[in-house]
Amino acid sequence: MSLYKRHVFVCVNERPEGSPRGCCALEGAREIRARLKQSVKEAGLKDEVRINAAGCLDQCEVGPVIAVYPEGIWYQGVTAADCDEIFEVHIRNGRPVERLQLHQRVPKAKASPAPGPPQTEAAPETPAE
Ligand code: FES
Repeated sequence: MSLYKRHVFVCVNERPEGSPRGCCALEGAREIRARLKQSVKEAGLKDEVRINAAGCLDQCEVGPVIAVYPEGIWYQGVTAADCDEIFEVHIRNGRPVERLQLHQRVPKAKASPAPGPPQTEAAPETPAE
């Protein structure tokens, strides 16, 4: 049994600027969480809906990412402008917002190789006579 009608996890993980994977915090995740919390409060739903800060949800490349349970619906690329729609349509009325849904995991960005001297090919060996 779930203790809440909807339990929302907003990734607010932060990495240093320039990180190959990026992070939700630098893309506005804290504002997203604050707006969703404010909507819950204004609607008088604090006993039914919980908006939690989450650590990295491992979909950083398409963040900010949020996950809504019990449905297990994930959203990607969320902006502060999307919060009212997510709140009204999904959190309040139970219908996922299709245009923002993340349907499958995204591949992780690879770190670039560390800077250093250019690699040279080894000279071919000359056969011994
Ligand atoms: S930093 Fe948000 S999913 Fe990884």
